[in-house]
Amino acid sequence: MTLPSLASRHTSAELDDLRAIARTLPLEDKVALLTGLNMWSLRAIDSIGLREVTFSDGPVGVRGLGLIEGETSILFPSPSAISAAWDRNLAFEVGQAFAREARGHGVDVVLAPQVNIQRTPVAGRHFECYSEDPYLTSVVGAHVVRGIQDQGVAACIKHFVANDSETDRTTATSRVDSKTLHEVYLAPFDAAVQAGAWSIMAAYNQTDDGTESSPMTAHSHLLTDVLKGELGFDGVVVSDWVATRTTVQSALGGLDIVMPGPGGPWEGKLLAAVEAGLVPDEVIDNQVARILLLARRVGALDLPIKAISYAADVRELVRRAAARGTVVLRNEGAQPVWDREAPASIALIGPNAVRPHVLGGGSSTVHPEHVVTPEEGLAARFPRANVVVHRGCDSRMLAPQLDLASRRAVIEATHRGADGRVLRIEKLDSWDGWLRGLPVETASIDLNVDFDLDEPGTHAIQVGTVGAHRIEVDSVPLSSSSTEVGVEVILDSSINNPEGAVASVVIDAPRRVRIACSHVVIDAEGYGRLIRAELRHRAPGPSGDEELIAAVVAATAAEMTVVIVGTNEEVESEGWDRTTLALPGRQNELVERVLDVAPDAVIVVNAGAPVILPWLKRARTVLWGWFPGQEAGHAIADILAGVIEPSGRLPWTLPDSENHVPVPDGLPVNGVVDYAEGVHVGYRAWERATHAPAAPFGHGLGWTTWNYLDATALPADDGGVTVTVNVSNTGNRTGREVVQAYVSTTPEPGLERPVIWLGGFDSVQVAPGETAVVTVEIPRRQLEVWDVPSCAWKLPARTYMIHVGRSVTDIRLDTAVQIGDVTTGRSTT
Ligand code: BGC
Repeated sequence: MTLPSLASRHTSAELDDLRAIARTLPLEDKVALLTGLNMWSLRAIDSIGLREVTFSDGPVGVRGLGLIEGETSILFPSPSAISAAWDRNLAFEVGQAFAREARGHGVDVVLAPQVNIQRTPVAGRHFECYSEDPYLTSVVGAHVVRGIQDQGVAACIKHFVANDSETDRTTATSRVDSKTLHEVYLAPFDAAVQAGAWSIMAAYNQTDDGTESSPMTAHSHLLTDVLKGELGFDGVVVSDWVATRTTVQSALGGLDIVMPGPGGPWEGKLLAAVEAGLVPDEVIDNQVARILLLARRVGALDLPIKAISYAADVRELVRRAAARGTVVLRNEGAQPVWDREAPASIALIGPNAVRPHVLGGGSSTVHPEHVVTPEEGLAARFPRANVVVHRGCDSRMLAPQLDLASRRAVIEATHRGADGRVLRIEKLDSWDGWLRGLPVETASIDLNVDFDLDEPGTHAIQVGTVGAHRIEVDSVPLSSSSTEVGVEVILDSSINNPEGAVASVVIDAPRRVRIACSHVVIDAEGYGRLIRAELRHRAPGPSGDEELIAAVVAATAAEMTVVIVGTNEEVESEGWDRTTLALPGRQNELVERVLDVAPDAVIVVNAGAPVILPWLKRARTVLWGWFPGQEAGHAIADILAGVIEPSGRLPWTLPDSENHVPVPDGLPVNGVVDYAEGVHVGYRAWERATHAPAAPFGHGLGWTTWNYLDATALPADDGGVTVTVNVSNTGNRTGREVVQAYVSTTPEPGLERPVIWLGGFDSVQVAPGETAVVTVEIPRRQLEVWDVPSCAWKLPARTYMIHVGRSVTDIRLDTAVQIGDVTTGRSTT
């Protein structure tokens, strides 16, 4: 596939013209345009033919504008699964498919991709990012951007910048020196800007880069000098949702749009600041011109919407991407690929076999029409097999959501005014944990939920809520609080996933039970007025030991055993960081017990970010299956039937123990997250340590074996290196090899560099017994360093060692290349 060339960067004349249009508009209209009309749109200005411009999350699908009840979207594999394919064309195609989804939902700007770095494995949004390596992140991110914008939809790159963990995410300061910032954290944004990105999101955090310490929505050095100046970004900077806290500082700092609206720190306050001379008119005209340029690009101003030309079957893409990105962590002698007609019985075991975790939690959530379960997928691929499914253990701490439909629930919400008077009573058809969009006159809500409990025994009812409330279950008080909360209900981890007290309800004979709550309405700023209540229920059932034994018995009897373990929505989500890398519940014990009786069992890890796998070396076949998206079951069945090779490679390092993780957390100390490790992030730090990880960066075995025959490295015209490698497929199945070229150089006093780093990669599909030539380009930037005193990139003249291999530790060939004048050691800039 030939990718389109970079977008033209010569837009200054165009911006001048649009600035001229801006000057013709009344100041009120201009300022109004700079704050959202609502949660997802900017205002129209009819006089200049500007229609509303709409935004939507991003980055595992395009959710839509929330205007259609029950709206569904295609759920893609999570970003880390996409990057695990190490495939530029796939990333581009995913971008194109996002654009098609966007247009289908009436969306102009997709709030994706997220190109923050996986600095610590506990980061809550790890699954939304591409890699711990800046180059892999840059390549995948830039191709997703190109794919989206190729179809005339805007990408919004997020979150600019150093927004790499969730704890205290709206208040913490990331302290990152300018060299580290340029070489690691800014690099993917730079790549996205060079790929032509039309918009960028300013993050919640503050950043201290040594020049300025400010909130990212008001960081004039990073937004204006670096992003718009040094990197040449000509698009709009939009705030993360409710991230902006200042009026003048953010307007002068380089922010162009405050989202969401109406309200917030701009609007009337910004108008007053302009009128008082605190913000010059030209600043407003520049912001408006950039918005008009965005509008023109997406067909919201004077040009029509570009017709979508991407016509492939998106479900097929989702299925293919999930299977392709899957990483074979272990392939030790068992036969993992089965003939369709072969297995007469399949034992499908594990909490994630029953309920696959197909996406991480938070703002990236989309609602697919249907998720293909592993049972459905295996049953379709292996039609002769009798598939039995056993959960084996419960991996959730919280009780499951109360199943309102099967329990014939009736839900009633009574609105009360500030004086306690009943304003109205409404019946609700469904309940998703929230009641949103409440009018100002509603000061509190009484929520009554009546439902059936049939099974004899003790039922657990759990109501997770926040803010001032009072709850009774079955007429018995459960919890109460007079503490009110605000927008933290959306943004703060400890608040937005409320656990809640548990009531035990004993059932002798089937009967109706009532949850009765009274909630003070929460004003969540731009997210509106709402109440929050998670309704959870656990019915009486088998004990943990009984579940485990049933699974082991099934594995003993089955011809083929597949165990799917992993994380879930309680573990990996926006809003909080993990506190452990352990698999939740008794899942490790489950795997060990199954391996005792079925040593050939295929173990699939259904998680986005690293978890410790104590049994890894015992198992013969282990797959890392990511958050695979809506075609989860088909993807795993395609892999096991040999229809598609799981040719993923880890985009991060899998730790062997929590104790060895180089950056174990992102916890602020006195409000500061100190990026003290500098450029030594991820595998670069593991390579400096004495401990080997459980699986290195770049690892992935596939279903065949490879021989690396020879490699040559030559200086390229751009100052980089061209590496040519011959690889042969020595196994008996067609396979796809990702050829990775790492770089190292002898240490130079005063020049901080990783001991080894990824320089470039490419992939090739090869038939058994065949040899292929792979050309890996190592761009000049991959050899350059950021020179702090001169604020410029420099290419140190050196002999660079090029290490070609299958992962950062499985190096098959070494070669060297001289760049610049090595005799004098003079730097070539
Ligand atoms: C997230 C963004 C997201 C925005 C809109 C924020 O809380 O950080 O990634 O795009 O919400 O949903």
